[in-house]
Formats: sequence, structure tokens, C-alpha cells
Amino acid sequence: MDGPMSYVRTAPMTDLTEPDPFVPGPGSERRFRDALGAYATGVTVITTATGHGPLGMTANSFASLSLDPPLVLWSPARSSRRFGAFTTAPHFAIHILAAEQHALCRHFARQGHDFDLPGVALNAQGVPVLPGCLAVFECAREAVHDGGDHAIVVGRVLAARSRPGAPLVFSAGAMGGFAP
Ligand SMILES: Cc1cc2nc3c(=O)[nH]c(=O)nc-3n(C[C@H](O)[C@H](O)[C@H](O)COP(=O)(O)O)c2cc1C
Repeated sequence: MDGPMSYVRTAPMTDLTEPDPFVPGPGSERRFRDALGAYATGVTVITTATGHGPLGMTANSFASLSLDPPLVLWSPARSSRRFGAFTTAPHFAIHILAAEQHALCRHFARQGHDFDLPGVALNAQGVPVLPGCLAVFECAREAVHDGGDHAIVVGRVLAARSRPGAPLVFSAGAMGGFAP
């Protein structure tokens, strides 16, 4: 029998309860990942300066954190070879990718050191700033917290810029556009 709120359902409740739920343990990671993938995000590229030159990394773990003071966060994986550089960097920049920037997303997922790209500029702290993005947050490292197999890097925003445009969206492991 339908309850009074049944009209807000987009699918029968059994769709959620039928599959075995994720419970932590061997072999269950796939279901956890699938559930997390239901949360659509934008896509960012984080850049920083290192002793070996500029470094970049694609990340969808970006989130806004605080308006006053202006804080944002993202989460690098401990398993990444770029983890040490990004958790110790005093300054970094977070770029929100536009819908047409698939290639940039793939470029900095594959590797981090190739900045042979048109229009890259260095900011006052020597951090590379990429052109054509929807928004850029130039940050100073505020804190690094433990986050299990990731770290939580909190950035204090020193400067932020944005432009209108359609975002690149990441959902259920796929990249696409946003249709309001
Ligand atoms: C859409 C997308 C989002 C990603 N988000 C993150 C992230 O939030 N944190 C992270 O550590 N790696 C993330 N990655 C993976 C990194 O971009 C990169 O592939 C990984 O660090 C590769 O390992 P390496 O640094 O050892 O080469 C993401 C990759 C893609 C394609």
C-alpha cells in the first residue's frame, strides 16, 4: 500500500534494500565505491610548486568548507606518489574544470609533471595557474588532517576567480555535462 509520501519516490524502496548492503570487510569495497559514486561532483585539478618543478593532480574530493575565514578542502590518497608533495606544499591552486576540459582531467590523472600546456602562468607563490577553468582558488595550506587512507588538506583561500560556464561533472565513474 502506498504511503502518503510515496509520490516523492523515484524508485521502489526495494531497489535500495534488495542488494546486499555494504558492510566493511573483505570483498565489499566495490559496493562502497558504487554507493559513493552516486554522489555527483565537479572535477578539479590541484597544482603546486615542488623542488622538482610544478606538480598537478586531478581530484574530485574538493569541497567548500568555510566562508569566514575562507577555507576549502580536498583529499589526496596516501597511495599516490604525489601524496607527500601535496600534503607538505605551503601553497597550491585548485582549478574547477569546465565541461570542455576532459583532456586536462585525463592529463593530470595520468601523471603530474607535464606542464607543457598553453597559457600556464605562475602566481605570486610560484604555483602554476591553468587557463580556461571555471574557477581558481589560490590557497595557503591551513591544516592537514588524517582521513584514513587519504589526508584532508585544508586550504586558506588567498584569491579566488570564476567565470560563468558549464562544469565538467563526475558521476558513477563517468565524466559528462550538467543539464539543469
Ligand atoms: C575524476 C577523477 C577524480 C580523482 N580524484 C582524486 C582525489 O580526490 N584524490 C586522489 O588522491 N586521487 C584522485 N584521483 C586520482 C589521481 O588523479 C591520480 O590518478 C592518482 O594520484 C594516480 O596515482 P599517482 O599519483 O601515484 O600517479 C582522481 C582521478 C580522476 C580521474
